[in-house]
Amino acid sequence: MYSIKRKIKNAISEHVNSLVQVSVEEIDDQKTTTAQLQSLCRQAGAESCVLLENKETLPLKGNVAVFGRVQQNYFYVGYGSGGDVKAPYRISLIEGLKNSGIDINKQISETYEKWIIKNPPYDGYWGAWPMNYDEMPVSEQWVRVNKRKNETAIIVIGRSAGEDRENKLEKGSWFLTNLERKMLKAVCGVYDKVCVILNTGSIMDMSWVKEYAVCAVLYVWQGGQESRNSIADVLTGKVCPSGKLPDTIAGIRDYPSTRYFGAREYNNYVEDIYVGYRYFETFAPEKVLYPFGYGLSYTNFSVNCIEQQISEENIKIKVSVKNTGTISGKEVVQVYYGAPQGKLGKASKSFICYKKTKFLQPGEEVEIDLFFLPEEMASFDDAGVTGQQNSYVLEAGEYPIYIGTSVRDVKKVADFIQQEQRVVKVVREACPVQVPFKRLVNHKKKCYEITPVASRNLRTRILEELPTEIGRSEDKGYKLYDVKAGSISMDQFVGQLSDIELEALVRGSEEGMYAKSGVSGNAGILGGTIPSLREKGIPVINTNDGPSGLRLQAHCTLLPIGIALSSTFNDDLIKSLLSEVGKELKDRQSQVILAPGINIHRNPLCGRNFEYFSEDPRLTGNMAIAYVKGIQDNGGSAVIKHFACNNQETNRNGTDSRVSPRALREIYLKAFEICVKEAEPDFVMTSYNRVNGVLTCYNYDLVTEILRKEWNYKGCVMTDWWMRTETSPDFPNVKLQAYRVRAQVDLFMPGIAKDGEYKNKVDDTLLTSLHAEEGISLGEIQRSAMKVLRICNKYIN
Ligand code: BGC
Repeated sequence: MYSIKRKIKNAISEHVNSLVQVSVEEIDDQKTTTAQLQSLCRQAGAESCVLLENKETLPLKGNVAVFGRVQQNYFYVGYGSGGDVKAPYRISLIEGLKNSGIDINKQISETYEKWIIKNPPYDGYWGAWPMNYDEMPVSEQWVRVNKRKNETAIIVIGRSAGEDRENKLEKGSWFLTNLERKMLKAVCGVYDKVCVILNTGSIMDMSWVKEYAVCAVLYVWQGGQESRNSIADVLTGKVCPSGKLPDTIAGIRDYPSTRYFGAREYNNYVEDIYVGYRYFETFAPEKVLYPFGYGLSYTNFSVNCIEQQISEENIKIKVSVKNTGTISGKEVVQVYYGAPQGKLGKASKSFICYKKTKFLQPGEEVEIDLFFLPEEMASFDDAGVTGQQNSYVLEAGEYPIYIGTSVRDVKKVADFIQQEQRVVKVVREACPVQVPFKRLVNHKKKCYEITPVASRNLRTRILEELPTEIGRSEDKGYKLYDVKAGSISMDQFVGQLSDIELEALVRGSEEGMYAKSGVSGNAGILGGTIPSLREKGIPVINTNDGPSGLRLQAHCTLLPIGIALSSTFNDDLIKSLLSEVGKELKDRQSQVILAPGINIHRNPLCGRNFEYFSEDPRLTGNMAIAYVKGIQDNGGSAVIKHFACNNQETNRNGTDSRVSPRALREIYLKAFEICVKEAEPDFVMTSYNRVNGVLTCYNYDLVTEILRKEWNYKGCVMTDWWMRTETSPDFPNVKLQAYRVRAQVDLFMPGIAKDGEYKNKVDDTLLTSLHAEEGISLGEIQRSAMKVLRICNKYIN
């Protein structure tokens, strides 16, 4: 018995040591993408393409001429930590088209090739990357002279943005440049069939489609390393497009958040719950150019409700989908609900569930079952107008249920009737507004009302709920695997840890980013960051970005960006793709991927929209579940970020997102809630900004009250890299690191500060606050250390 235990211990120790000792030399830089990853990326890229217009242009027939320098200077991904992947290959769009056998007009593509040699693209630097590249000037005469018979023109337009780099309300970002307009005018003046491909990280101005009478428009987003194959598959008709818009497209001034977007000091979320289609469908349907959920196909489908069961417990709908066209394809069945206006006021339609079909052959029909709970339609009453303040309420009245293929193209199939007002859940006040502002409400017309403000005292609440301390012992020589083996409890293990060990556990390492004790190219390590912790069997856990693939020194697969993944509306596909990424994570000897990013697209100009999924919390939440399960089912850890309200990059470390508790819960926190409850991500990363006055890394209400207590989250919460630091206004002796531990933000990453008093150092504020009067308690530090150890435990078997 003893020897078996000993053997297991030795095997575990060896594994722990191998984690500890990974170094630059051991990394195999020759690694490339597996065939499985290549094929899933290609499929996801193709399914993400959203066809907005198509007047007898696609799939392509005959010759093709390709215009626009982006055919060669392609944007494969957005900028910053979410895009910086060392892909094994990136092949330009024009090469991809050539490889797929399309007959390309050489005269035109060679002219671009020569011009690009003389006018190479500018790379930029952090925060100042190019949003577009200057276009080659094109005259109508040149286009006419080079046009061949029966030729279709493709124009490729590219845009990019990223972390610390917003999209701008300028030509070359949201708007077309003058040279792009000239190119469109010249090409549309000569060719009967013109298809515009949009290679972007987010939506952009679309007013030009009508202006130049463009026949076909295809959003291909930024599809990662397989972009060229995915696009060729769709253009040639090998794959029928089935992507749908995850955001509403309208004029930029028509989004109610645009007036406030980019404000440095604070941003009032005046539109409240009316984000994206919730705003447009309720107040300004005429402003929409392309609605949420919209996307054309090369074939046609009929979608009909064949059965519905509506009860107080659940709502079930059976839908039949038939391919009535001549090409095989997929369709997305979408379900929306309406709601009685009542006292709270509601959006005229809200997205509740969806399902994508398999490939349906012409004439083929399938039945799809859709299901949701009535309480998912409840609204949050933050002001007490229903008599139930801080509750989720189903107000009495009719809730029409619609099915269709976009928020516009729907039919009503049932009514859920709520006879009397029903309180679905009562919660405690959290994250109240500190400085009231006017928010939008729907009282059968557009009105504004003042947001409610805080009524409870945070200091008293915190003191009432401090955790009890775990009894301390001397170092008993316990190892973490003793906990795993069940021979000691976690409390016993934690009880023997010194102050120094506890402090080291609740932060990254003093090596900071690209820690030498971790896998090469890591974003920081955690767990066994000091020798005495490693001696106790605590492994080094590596973290690495990010949403579009692993950001390491080794080659890793560059995936389609977040907005592309969500455009597939195909949760199963995303889960399969991320399962393969989970295997790649293991193969590259890392453990934690700092992804997915699940903030809501509040405004189309946000630089990180490319990483995030959608304007809708349900779609975002489901994508997050698929992403997290894919990674974690394969043994890795996922990090949902940025919790919460990182809806602009401008002054992201300082801006205050002022948002009502109702909008927080129904829109901005919803996807986090959906994912936490269903997929149990190992980590949540806070954002840099404030929410209602409090930096999120210190936000007790956000992290303790809502995430931990209300949603019962058992995982570990980390800061975003080099968080901004402050002392608690309620507890002057609870300083910087202690302030965030009090909020239950367990880990400060990457471990050392970038600037200021503690630049490149581990700051001592946690331990000084531990020994100060009315400082942090030992129990609070032990509680966070346990959260970290729980994850470490996962990596020692
Ligand atoms: C970003 C995070 C990223 C981290 C580590 C931060 O600047 O906001 O999303 O995971 O850096 O690279």
